[in-house]
Formats: sequence, C-alpha cells, structure tokens
Amino acid sequence: MSILITGGAGYLGSHCCVSFIERGYDVVVFDNLRNSNPEALRRIEAITGKMPKFEQGDVRDQAALETVLKRHDCDGVIHFAGLKAVGESSQDPLSYYDNNVIGTHRLLSAMSAVGTHRLIFSSSATVYGEPKSLPLTEEHSLNPVNPYGRTKLIVEDMLRDLAASNPAWRVGVLRYFNPVGAHSSGLLGEDPQGVPNNLMPFIAQVAVGRRKQLSVFGGDYPTRDGTGVRDYIHVVDLVEGHLRAYEKLSALGSSENCFSVNLGTGNGYSVLEMIRAFERGANQPIPFEIVARREGDVSEFYADTQKATEFLAWSAERDLDDMCSDTWNWVRKNPGGYKSASD
Ligand code: NAD
Ligand code: UFG
Repeated sequence: MSILITGGAGYLGSHCCVSFIERGYDVVVFDNLRNSNPEALRRIEAITGKMPKFEQGDVRDQAALETVLKRHDCDGVIHFAGLKAVGESSQDPLSYYDNNVIGTHRLLSAMSAVGTHRLIFSSSATVYGEPKSLPLTEEHSLNPVNPYGRTKLIVEDMLRDLAASNPAWRVGVLRYFNPVGAHSSGLLGEDPQGVPNNLMPFIAQVAVGRRKQLSVFGGDYPTRDGTGVRDYIHVVDLVEGHLRAYEKLSALGSSENCFSVNLGTGNGYSVLEMIRAFERGANQPIPFEIVARREGDVSEFYADTQKATEFLAWSAERDLDDMCSDTWNWVRKNPGGYKSASD
C-alpha cells in the first residue's frame, strides 16, 4: 500500500496526500519544489497525524525515480508533477514539453524498469479544445489549442500506446475541469506564486486585500450573463475521485487496461456567479471591472459526468458555497500563503 505522488507538495497533490493517508496508504512525495513549499508537507502531517515521506527530485531524472520507487517499494504512482500555466506555455513551450512530456516519459521508463505498472495521470479538460457540443463527454474530439494542452494530449497518447503494448500496465487518465477550494481545516490550499492566472485565487486575493479588484475577462460571451462559464470542482472531491480511480485500476482486465474519465460536477457557473457566491461566503464585496476577453478563452465548458458516476462510482458532493467558504477560510488564515509560515 505504498504510493508515489509526484508533485505531492503542490496544490492538488497535497490534498491528494491527505486523502490517501487517511485511506491507509503509505505516501511518498516526489517533488522538486519548483512551484511549492515544504510547509505543505507539515500541514499534511497536522491534518492526518502522519508526515508523508519526502524525496526531493525532478521527474526528468529517471535514475532518481528508479531509486525512490525501489527504496519505498511503491505499488503505483499518482502523477501530478508538471507545469500548468496556459499563457506561459505559449511563451516558453520548450519548458512545457520538457517538464510535462519528457518528465512523464522518464517516469514511465523508471516505472517500467522497476516493474511498477499502476498510474493515475493528471490530464485536463483543456485537451478537448473548443467544445463542439456540451456537456463534454470523454468521446468528444481532442484538439487542444495551446502548448500546455498539447503536452497533456501527447502524454495521454503515450499512455494509451504504452498500455496497448503491455497488458501489465493499469492506467487511469483523469481530465480535470476547474479545481478550486481548499481543505476544510484551512491548513491546505492553493498558493500561486506571483499574480494568479486563475479566477478563484484571484478573487480570494482581492477578498483578503492583496489585490484591489478583479478584472473580468469579457462581458460579451454568448452565455446567460455575458461572462465565461466553467465547471468548478472542489479540490477534495477531485482527490477523492483519484482514490476511486486508483482503486479501480486493480479491477481492470488486461485488454482494457487504460481509461479516461472527466472529473467535474456537470454544472457550469459564470464569472459573475462565482463573484456573487464568494461575496456570500466571505460576507464582503469583491470589486471588479469587466475588461476585454482574454486571448484563447472559450465561452463555456462543463463536464458530462456519466462515465465518472457509472465507471468510478464517484460524483462530486461539495457545492459552490463549499468551494467559496473553504477558499475564504484558507486565504483568511494564510493571507500570504505558505511563505509567511515557513519564513
Ligand atoms: P502545482 O504547481 O501546485 O503542483 C505541481 C507540483 O509539481 C509542484 O509542487 C511543483 O513543484 C512540482 N513539479 C513541477 N515540475 C516538476 C518536475 N519537473 N519534477 C518534480 N516536481 C515538479 O499544480 P496543481 O494545480 O497541483 O496541478 C497538478 C497537476 O494537475 C498538473 O499536472 C496540472 O497540469 C494538472 N491540472 C491542474 C489543473 C488546475 O487547475 N490546478 C487543471 C487541470 C490539470
Ligand atoms: N477569469 C477572469 N478573470 C481572471 C481570471 C479568470 O475573468 O482574473 C475568467 C476566465 O476568462 C474564464 C474563467 O474566469 O472565463 C475561468 O478562468 P481560469 O483561468 O480560472 O480557468 P480556465 O478555464 O481558463 O483554465 C483552467 C486551468 C487550465 C485547465 C482548465 C480546465 O488554468 O489549466 O482550467 O481544467 F486546463
């Protein structure tokens, strides 16, 4: 019951550590701390009473991964480590191909070398590209429109090819919609470096006084109030989906040894609806201004959740108010993120 969580000190990975530790797994975190703070590991211990084992390293380092997989006798891997900023991926595509594609290739090579064949991979709804129909089912065409999304699709294809080549593999590809929220303790949450790219952390930093106002990117989309619509999912629901997916791997047959599933709620909320919900949760106004559209944004997307419900027996339980109140609780208790706690 030992599991390696790459990127386990990051936003999603740290919450995943909590769920797997609480389920009784021995968790080993492998992270180069490029976008995270070891304080998150101490917080995991504060919540669960157990510190995950920590191996600092880079997923592009195959030898280090082989050593760690063997040292801890890992049965499987949850692979979060990678870069995730859409805009940055257009400015610096080579770093994205390096960390996301080459990093995963090295990880798979290390797993092959030591005979560990169970993997859950963090993919993204961004692999679908511009939606041709809604809700997005797993059968929707895959046509990502930015380098970040293309790195996710390349890895997905690599995983499908690998699974087809060797029946020993058991692979789950999870396509996340928009993960938000924080652990209900307020000890773990999203701690972006610099100006947040994403909506929810930006709103949270406005609420806590770190930023003056939110820019709403576009008020003229063909949606119910003109602002972009997304399927926001609570991070704790998301990581519980990983537990289900990981445990499903052992039930797979050798001829169907790779699956892809959406992790979303199936509900779309507009930017203005998110602002109103956060104002309710934090009981204070969020100043905003509607500005031009952000390049590369689509107007609306949300998940078809039928496959997750039927195949994984999983569905999201937390609603928009939980997402906002947990984010507010986290940011109120940690207005400077993990940095101030670790200084
Ligand atoms: P994050 O940046 O908080 O966590 C990623 C972690 O990986 C960080 O701790 C970072 O230090 C580590 N890392 C990065 N490159 C590494 C490398 N080469 N070697 C070792 N460690 C490395 O991001 P997150 O939001 O937790 O996202 C985790 C995964 O989920 C990513 O693969 C991301 O693409 C995917 N994803 C995230 C979202 C989202 O909105 N958060 C949506 C869809 C998919
Ligand atoms: N938005 C604003 N102002 C901001 C930030 C965002 O109005 O300051 C709007 C966007 O225009 C969009 C919505 O809020 O309409 C959500 O934007 P996010 O940046 O939070 O999320 P995206 O849907 O653009 O993308 C996110 C991740 C991607 C991932 C995708 C699906 O950044 O990596 O969800 O999982 F692929």
